Amino acid sequence: MPSLVVVGCQWGDEGKGKIVDYLASQADYVTRFQGGSNAGHTISVGNETYKLRLLPSGVLHRKKLVIANGVVVDPVVLIQEVADVTSRGYSPALALSDRAHVTLSYHQILDAAEEKYKGALRSGTTLRGIGPTYTDKVARYGIRVCDLLDEETLRQKIAQNTPLKQEILASAYKSDSKLDEQQIVSACLKAGEVLSCYVTDTSILLNDALNAGHRVLFEGAQGLMLDIDHGVYPFGTSSNTVAGAVCTGAGIGPTKVDEVLGVVKAYTSRVGAGPVPTELTDDLGSKLQEKGKEFGTVTGRRRRCGWLDAIPLRLAARVNGLTGVALTKMDTLAGFNPVKICVEYRADGRTLRDQPAGLREFSSCNPVYEEMEGWPDQSAAEWAAIAKRGYDALPLQARRYIERIEEIMKVKVKVVSIGEGRDATIHRAEVWPN
Ligand code: GDP
Ligand code: IMO
Ligand code: MG
Repeated sequence: MPSLVVVGCQWGDEGKGKIVDYLASQADYVTRFQGGSNAGHTISVGNETYKLRLLPSGVLHRKKLVIANGVVVDPVVLIQEVADVTSRGYSPALALSDRAHVTLSYHQILDAAEEKYKGALRSGTTLRGIGPTYTDKVARYGIRVCDLLDEETLRQKIAQNTPLKQEILASAYKSDSKLDEQQIVSACLKAGEVLSCYVTDTSILLNDALNAGHRVLFEGAQGLMLDIDHGVYPFGTSSNTVAGAVCTGAGIGPTKVDEVLGVVKAYTSRVGAGPVPTELTDDLGSKLQEKGKEFGTVTGRRRRCGWLDAIPLRLAARVNGLTGVALTKMDTLAGFNPVKICVEYRADGRTLRDQPAGLREFSSCNPVYEEMEGWPDQSAAEWAAIAKRGYDALPLQARRYIERIEEIMKVKVKVVSIGEGRDATIHRAEVWPN
């Protein structure tokens, strides 16, 4: 039952899409298990770029794709995405969980209203309705994929929810938005018709696959610092982004997880609000942002950039039980000299080696840096040659940086990514279980 979970170790956008696509060549199934269309996972193959929000990043290898119960599904986005990849020659072999919760138009309206209401405490969400959909799930107001196929239940639930949402919007949030119950029902029924061919019990599907010895790759969305429990509360997302979420989000037992690969970007990036201790607000930060083309995949917002922070990395190793790391964007960090790693924080005269829980304390954390010699930038052709020759062809200073990350995380860096493309990847050690 070979299974491999891939998760982000920072604030999302670490390059999970690229790494999952790279690893998917050896998978039979690729599965999303949490998050929703707030995710934007980029895959570059040749001159083509794909930005996936709901479909797992195994689609270009024509693998079996699963959107499991823990995902919140915006049917409009999913239908559009299926049409897009199909028109580009990749008709997806998709299984969609009958238990996954559905994001409706009122969730997106509520998302915007809540952000406005929260003011300074807003997290700068992607406005895709993610928080309100998960809220409804936990409060037991949610619409599930199976409800899209059952008109009677659907009508009953929408009739319950719409006046309540309308009241909350008008009274609490002073919003002018008008919800149309009939329109919501018809949109759901239409979506159900299109998606019905994919709907199934994905927990049974995945357990059968694992028991038969098929290889299942689980693709995390977002990253550790956005996790609802372990991240920077309340600035993260509304789901658990850690590897443990694969059990509840895909309906498999913990004994079925073999390997956990954490994706780490060689520096820090953050799209959205909230404290980021190593953020560089000067020219250096802008240089990283520009060189790394750091714009949000979903919202197009500029990502805030800064030096690598060891505190989230140690936390990621611990709470995910990482068995390996894939390090990305080593080519972007090339040419910066020196390079810095934050190894601890100073706050109110104290030294902290772990992320504090309190928002005020975390906001007052100042990074304590360790400096290392940078490595020279290379042309695209030189990076390609290095990728072919392997790990030892990397500049010595780059290898020292990688090995320092291994010391900090106490986890082996098994994959090193030095470019957007599939080929710009160095395989250093086996990631899949034997
Ligand atoms: P994800 O959300 O974790 O899948 O990451 P995104 O796709 O949102 O953002 C990562 C960006 O970095 C994408 O544009 C990728 O094409 C790009 N990328 C990934 N790995 C590398 C790398 O090693 N080098 C460079 N230059 N770009 C990379
Ligand atoms: P991928 O999978 C980066 C951030 C938003 C916001 C907070 C809450 O591409 O790495 P939400 O819409 O989830 O309620 O927003 O989380 N965020 C992400 N940042 N990458 C993502 O996904 C993200 N998904 C959500 O910017 O601060
Ligand atoms: Mg992304």
